[in-house]
Amino acid sequence: MSKAVHTAQQYWDVRSDLFANYYKKPSLFDKMFRKAVYTRTAVALKVIKECGQCTVLDIGSGPGVNSVTWLKNTDAKFLLGIDFAENMNEYARKHAEAEGVGGRSKFVEGDFMTYDFGMDKYDVSVAVGVADYVKDMDVFLKKMDNVTNKAMVISWPLNGLRMALRRYRYTCPVYHYNEADVRRLHEGLAIKSLELVPMQGGITSIARK
Ligand SMILES: C[S@@+](CC[C@H](N)C(=O)[O-])C[C@H]1O[C@@H](n2cnc3c(N)ncnc32)[C@H](O)[C@@H]1O
Repeated sequence: MSKAVHTAQQYWDVRSDLFANYYKKPSLFDKMFRKAVYTRTAVALKVIKECGQCTVLDIGSGPGVNSVTWLKNTDAKFLLGIDFAENMNEYARKHAEAEGVGGRSKFVEGDFMTYDFGMDKYDVSVAVGVADYVKDMDVFLKKMDNVTNKAMVISWPLNGLRMALRRYRYTCPVYHYNEADVRRLHEGLAIKSLELVPMQGGITSIARK
């Protein structure tokens, strides 16, 4: 029997509870084999904290558990989450309200690649757990650069056993990178520095402007 094929939007639209529970109710398996999920959250938290009363763009915000963590633990004044899976956004809005940060956040439905931000820019933009599903990170990163004032945080999955398992299990396309790809993709952007933080099965990059 052939495997079902979905877009990343279709795949994630029915997995808001599943992904939220990696943070809310982590199993022993999650703690051992999904360490990258927690590392990248912590790296972004540090960057947002350093920024003070900043604005944050959370690209592919998913269930918004990260967005809420960042708002509750920093002085960030506003966070815009964008995700093309509307069930994720609904989860995120409810979670933000329940955690008392609904007034400092907004979650919109859209594909980051085509969303019109107008003249809006954000001090820190974050895309964690997202490059995995983006076919053209070159275009994605250029757009991220255009909407960011101070720093961009991105997580990048490396190839390996975990990626092979995801290719087998997931019904949407997934992509991987290596350190040279990450450096090359940042070439030509308006950045002053690029820091690469190793994590389980991947890298989190911090590009400062
Ligand atoms: C693995 S989840 C990660 C969620 C969240 N960033 C986190 O780390 O908790 C990936 C999310 O990115 C969203 N996504 C992927 N590509 C996107 C795009 N081009 N525009 C908007 N959302 C996107 C998916 O719908 C999904 O909710």
